[in-house]
Amino acid sequence: ISLKEYNTFGIDVTAKRFVSVESFYELQEVIKQEKDIFLLSGGSNMLLTGDIEKLVVHVNIKGISIDAESESHVNLTVNAGEDWHQFVLWCLDQNYGGIENLSLIPGNVGTCPIQNIGAYGVEVKDVITKVEGIDIATGKRIEFSNEQCLFGYRNSIFKNELKGKCVLTSVSFRLTKKNHTLNTSYGAIEAELNTQGIASPTIKDISNAVIKIRQSKLPDPKEIGNSGSFFKNPVISTDHFEKLKEAYPNIPSYPISEQEVKVPAGWLIETAGFKGKRFGDFGVHKKQALVLVNYGNASGKDIYKLAQEIQQTIQNTFGISLEIEVNVIR
Ligand code: EPU
Repeated sequence: ISLKEYNTFGIDVTAKRFVSVESFYELQEVIKQEKDIFLLSGGSNMLLTGDIEKLVVHVNIKGISIDAESESHVNLTVNAGEDWHQFVLWCLDQNYGGIENLSLIPGNVGTCPIQNIGAYGVEVKDVITKVEGIDIATGKRIEFSNEQCLFGYRNSIFKNELKGKCVLTSVSFRLTKKNHTLNTSYGAIEAELNTQGIASPTIKDISNAVIKIRQSKLPDPKEIGNSGSFFKNPVISTDHFEKLKEAYPNIPSYPISEQEVKVPAGWLIETAGFKGKRFGDFGVHKKQALVLVNYGNASGKDIYKLAQEIQQTIQNTFGISLEIEVNVIR
């Protein structure tokens, strides 16, 4: 079958063998029979560059359960196949706080820990208590505490030591039921709330502001294929930054430590002249240079070549190496 509908980049490659599993046990059965599998969830953080020879296993396990509840908090477990944004909206309906800043992020719940999704001052690691999965080698159930996930900026143990070694089947969260901790520190959120004249925002107000900001900058994958930020924001030394500042006085930065700053990759790519560039069916998004897009029938190889060209140019222009955030499947 074609995987075009199964990846948000909308890349048309073929899976020779494909199975969709709807329960933990069904998945365990598949894994017992076949170890060399290709896992597919929401397909929102991958760039497919060719047909898939392995058995494609689509993790489509649904369901949300409440594990414990107090006056102030709720603990829930969400199965991997639930759509992330639908889960956020469901939480807002219940007045559960903690993930409102992560509204409208494409993908499924089961993959949110892998790259520790984050936006507007919040990362999903802030609310995850536990992750469960299946060890592919043994077929056994495995469990990870928040600490064991070794979360970092767009990073976790699942992208490193455990890459390809386990399938995540559910994620547990601890959310607030009242006295929500609101994170409005991100400039764009503050500005949006001000425009709307909202002085004491609810979690729903924050979610609405985030949705508005995202919609104004980020392409909707249903209309234009993409995987969100294609690169990570690089961290460079303050010395390096000071030198760049002489040549580029308006270069933006976020402090990391005394010795290091993070520079927005979007600014580097825009300054290097790539923003809005279109090459046939693929290119760099008009409103956010960190997002590479497929306008229709681009191939993953085309987009990967463009990514490499961008990396090379950023290296030559700024002496900075950009790391790809999206999982490139070769
Ligand atoms: N900028 C430009 N030109 C551009 C884009 C950005 O100059 O074309 C500069 C501007 O100075 C802007 C700054 O970069 O103020 C930051 O831009 P933005 O607020 O859009 O955030 P970002 O750093 O580009 C990161 C995440 C996004 C997340 C936003 C908001 C990464 C790799 N990306 O982007 O996450 O939504 O912050 O928190 O950390 C994703 O991971 O897929 C993703 C979309």
